[in-house]
Amino acid sequence: MSLDRRRFLQSGTAAVVSLLAQRHADAADPAPSEPGRSLGFTGVPASLRDAVVVPPEYEWQLLYPWGTPTGVPRQPMPAFAPDGSNSAADQALQAGMHHDGMHFFPLATPDRALLVMNHEYTDEQLLHADGVKEWNAEKVRKSLHAMGVSVIEIQRTARGGWRQVSPSPYARRVHGRTPMRIAGPAAGSPLMRTAANPAGDEVFGTFANCAMGVTPWGTYLTCEENFHGYFGGPKDAAKTATPAQRRYGTVPGSQWVEYWRFDERFDLTRHPHEPHRFGWVVEIDPFDPEARPIKRTALGRKRQESATCTVARDGRLAVYMGDDARFEYVYKYISKDRIAVTSDGPQARANSRLLDEGTLYVARFDADGRGRWIELTHGRHGLDAASGFADQAEVLIHARLAADVVGGTKMDRPEWIAVSPDGEVYVTLTNNTQRGDFGKPGPDAANPRANNFFGGILRWREDDGDAASLGFAWEHFVLAGDTDQPASGARYPSPDVDLFGSPDGLHFDRGGLLWIQTDMSGQLIGKPPYTALGNNQMLCADPATGRTKRFLTGPNGCEITGCVVTPDRRTLFVNIQHPGESRDDGEAKHNSAWPDGDAPGSARPRSATLAIRRRDGGIVGT
Ligand code: FEO
Ligand code: CA
Ligand code: CA
Ligand code: CA
Repeated sequence: MSLDRRRFLQSGTAAVVSLLAQRHADAADPAPSEPGRSLGFTGVPASLRDAVVVPPEYEWQLLYPWGTPTGVPRQPMPAFAPDGSNSAADQALQAGMHHDGMHFFPLATPDRALLVMNHEYTDEQLLHADGVKEWNAEKVRKSLHAMGVSVIEIQRTARGGWRQVSPSPYARRVHGRTPMRIAGPAAGSPLMRTAANPAGDEVFGTFANCAMGVTPWGTYLTCEENFHGYFGGPKDAAKTATPAQRRYGTVPGSQWVEYWRFDERFDLTRHPHEPHRFGWVVEIDPFDPEARPIKRTALGRKRQESATCTVARDGRLAVYMGDDARFEYVYKYISKDRIAVTSDGPQARANSRLLDEGTLYVARFDADGRGRWIELTHGRHGLDAASGFADQAEVLIHARLAADVVGGTKMDRPEWIAVSPDGEVYVTLTNNTQRGDFGKPGPDAANPRANNFFGGILRWREDDGDAASLGFAWEHFVLAGDTDQPASGARYPSPDVDLFGSPDGLHFDRGGLLWIQTDMSGQLIGKPPYTALGNNQMLCADPATGRTKRFLTGPNGCEITGCVVTPDRRTLFVNIQHPGESRDDGEAKHNSAWPDGDAPGSARPRSATLAIRRRDGGIVGT
């Protein structure tokens, strides 16, 4: 499989790898040389149609909907049961639910690749044949198996589309019960030790996997976001919850699901340290299905959004991360040592420790358009026993509390982060309508709207263009919303834009086009103040001019998330997450049956991946 890694590194599929290549060879843009940023496609209107709509000169193809056999070698390939009757064991060998962050890794064999994707959360009504009237241990297992990560192999077809190769020697499901290692400064900490793992260095599973990252050495980083909702306990135990438990949302009685009744590790009153083992960035080697995933504690614990990697001028690794909750922070990690580069490219095994030894910072966005990265290191900036941190492990496990102490800027829900080919960093701030509410921070320069329904995108340039710099200059790229509602405070970078709200997913392709995906709440889609914005959508922007054109609209109730343009820029992979999710119609109802049924109620809706191409085989987005 080292040949595959070499092929991945040579393909420059990760932006970071092309960055490395540019720094080492000072090469011109290696992407195909059609006019890079023309946005020449036919824009699609905002729409409440229960369908995937793309420009007429494009076509999409469905891949790997929930329940599709993953194709794990020497294992059964259980077919999807449309009535929800697949067992927990079946689900561990099938596509999970709620596809999210995703990446494309070319293989050494031409026209073959791995598609690696997150499965963020579960819709228990759809997952089980009889919904959740009664929970049991089998349902808990099935639910845990429906989250995590899929690695599938895909092959280009004669028509320029893609098909799944199944079984495949690479195919793998990592899920909520997969054994994995815990590494870095918090491994072994007393706060990480449990009855099942007294050493505090191993854990079963990853779940709530939202956005992602790709390392320069060809591994996949999956981010554990809303892990808190799976831990619970009796409501009357909430009285004794600690400030840290409250800050992270792991409070008995506030659980989303009843795991704790049937799997005791989710009972906060019996195993209060178990949730400390979630909320991390997890490294997975997609080229080696035997390799154990590793939770990298040096990057800090939060409701982890992306872990976007780039390379500092001196060759150290930088990782940008958001913490998606109201009034939480943007973080950066810088490795202690440089990436080891050989003639074959950066080497996986040698570089992995770069994720264990380094410094974590939190961002402060000042009113004058400048910003600072403030170090989160025990013994500095007041992080010591007096402020509640015994050691660096505690700083990392309670990174949110540490960021409070040093004075980071509380943001409007930081989601994905993307780095442009020329090193500018973009973060989506998806929304926050509680700014200025009683006891909460009011508007500030970086988060200027009190009633921020629509979110926006903020960008910064590190000083000297170096990702290792501790100062930067920031500005808003867009304050999203409906310009026909002056009260929305919308501000777009160009008159030539299509409107959107609640940006979430972000991806730069190799031509420098910025792909933007939205996640407006299902409760609000089609209603004021979101009426004019239609269903969730995807847009393509030219960051140089601000021109922004709508490229895709999704079925009812879905979020558009997960995006990767192939290195040849001929295919765009996108995930449709939770079609039919309509939170105000009662849990049992869904307002879409996409992709299997025509009318709501005719089939269980399924999250799935789309492979999108131009009918003429040209470069997407141009
Ligand atoms: Fe899973 Fe913050 O989106
Ligand atoms: Ca998201
Ligand atoms: Ca979101
Ligand atoms: Ca969602």
